Amino acid sequence: MIDTLTEPLFERIARIARSRWGLALHARKFSLVQNRLTTHLRKSGGTIEAWVQRIERTPTDADMLVFFDILSTNVTSFFRDPTHFGFLERELWTPLARGTRTAAGRKIRIWSAACSNGAEPYSLAMQARECLPPEQKWEVKILGSDLSTKALTAARSGVYAESQLAGLAPERRKRWLLPAPKATEPGWSVRPELREMVEFRQHNLMDSPNSMGGPFDCILLRNCMIYFDRETREEVVLRMHSMLKPAGWLIVGSAETLSSLKVPFKTASASIYVKE
Ligand SMILES: C[S@@+](CC[C@H](N)C(=O)[O-])C[C@H]1O[C@@H](n2cnc3c(N)ncnc32)[C@H](O)[C@@H]1O
Repeated sequence: MIDTLTEPLFERIARIARSRWGLALHARKFSLVQNRLTTHLRKSGGTIEAWVQRIERTPTDADMLVFFDILSTNVTSFFRDPTHFGFLERELWTPLARGTRTAAGRKIRIWSAACSNGAEPYSLAMQARECLPPEQKWEVKILGSDLSTKALTAARSGVYAESQLAGLAPERRKRWLLPAPKATEPGWSVRPELREMVEFRQHNLMDSPNSMGGPFDCILLRNCMIYFDRETREEVVLRMHSMLKPAGWLIVGSAETLSSLKVPFKTASASIYVKE
């Protein structure tokens, strides 16, 4: 018998996704959810109906993380949206290097919230190393977080296939990547001096961020709010606000905006906001 996802089952899945993660699961995601779910159940066994029932009634944490991976989209790339990296170079790294901007204890903290496979935090680490002369002894720490176990496993491995390096200029590849050890599939491994700047943690943006350290000079919350309803977006942005230093920046995806939200930020540049 072919086990297919029905509309009522999809509705039930969408309800849980909304209440747990604020995800607005549109009907156009129906086929994607069906395909990923059947792939998962082919390995683990059981029917879609039984799986939905378990997720509704007695899910374990592990069940919920698998469920999140089934729904989430982890598309990312190195130096995605160069205007954001241009802004940071102009407003943060270069002024620090020139001494026209300073930071308490010479410490800079950046949070790449929803960092997917780590390309975003590693891009930040590359840029910091390229712009800040080592003799100035800045301490730059980057936190990368995501809820997806699959994405975090990739991020922690720091190994990328050739096809994932699209945003990386040849000089950067040469400077910051090493051929990955032969045991893994062919790929490129992030150099240790970048790895030591980046810490990865599993975090649900729906939860309190108080244990995430900070306060941060800048938070990148890019290309994940599009999946949230308006109310959730507002809550998440307010949580990020509480984690920023005074006048810290919040950078969202280039197709995202805070304009319809009641949040204390003013616009610095398109999709870049300053804490008020
Ligand atoms: C499209 S990727 C964006 C990655 C990166 N920020 C970028 O712009 O290239 C969206 C990421 O948001 C994560 N995400 C979605 N909802 C989340 C939640 N409630 N908590 C934590 N991460 C979430 C997904 O797992 C996914 O890795």
